[in-house]
Amino acid sequence: MTYNVSETGTILDQESTETEGVKLPKPVSEQTVTNIHHWTDELFSFRITRPPEFRFRSGEFVMLGLMDGSKPLLRAYSIASPSWDEELDFYSIKVKDGPLTSRLQHIQKGDKILLGRKPTGTLVLDALIPGKRLFLFSTGTGMAPFASILKEPETYEKFDEVIVTHTCRNVADLDYSRSVVENLSEDPLVGDVAPGRVKYYATTTREDFAYKGRITHLIASGKFYEDLEIPALDPRTDRAMICGSTPMIADTKDILEAAGLSEGSNAKPAEFVVEKAFVA
Ligand code: A2P
Repeated sequence: MTYNVSETGTILDQESTETEGVKLPKPVSEQTVTNIHHWTDELFSFRITRPPEFRFRSGEFVMLGLMDGSKPLLRAYSIASPSWDEELDFYSIKVKDGPLTSRLQHIQKGDKILLGRKPTGTLVLDALIPGKRLFLFSTGTGMAPFASILKEPETYEKFDEVIVTHTCRNVADLDYSRSVVENLSEDPLVGDVAPGRVKYYATTTREDFAYKGRITHLIASGKFYEDLEIPALDPRTDRAMICGSTPMIADTKDILEAAGLSEGSNAKPAEFVVEKAFVA
């Protein structure tokens, strides 16, 4: 018997272990929710315990979920905390009829949650060749892996400057990214280096805000560079990560390629990497 449990089609193998009377498939462990924050009616973040043996690189994703009867119901989630953190942060949309998030949005402190054992992904510093500026382009919950990258000390060892963009439909949807960036100054590991070297560019598309429009349009028109007072993308110095919906990735990728940057991977590092924001 196999479990086909993931929105993204990942098949977990059938082996299971017995934990406190509940049958868990081997690829997951049971963790405890330690904190929850509801940002809007549609967005929330939560923190869970981290097993000591759980290793990952900042920017990676992992399967996460709840039991659904006797079966685990899992989805891919980017880890929003850095690799050094004692616990694990996640940032999620609430999908009204979504099989997992309709239940996950009601989790409480102390509840149990299933965590996959094998984090993976391409939004990692190792998949980029050396450069001076790191651009992180996100929409919606695509900001999650960049929260991890922004709190990772290696980011500031490898890059002089980090430019993080977040585009959402409405102003309130930007609260999470603004909070992540504002709190960098209090961070125990990057608090000294990050604030002076991170530029945050938040835009909305369906409500008035200081900066308005899709990031792709703002780059194409040059307004993005004017607003931040920075030079245009240059393949000699610039590296990038993209995380958002499939169309957003495609359009942003076109812009980066037109600027002379090429896509990399774990196996073949290059100038930029992409990943779909999973639960959308
Ligand atoms: P828009 O409101 O113009 O569709 P969603 O909530 O649908 O995932 O969208 C999140 C944000 O991403 C929205 O602000 C949306 O803008 C923007 N977006 C959607 N498609 C693209 C795209 N192809 N390129 C750039 N931004 C996009």
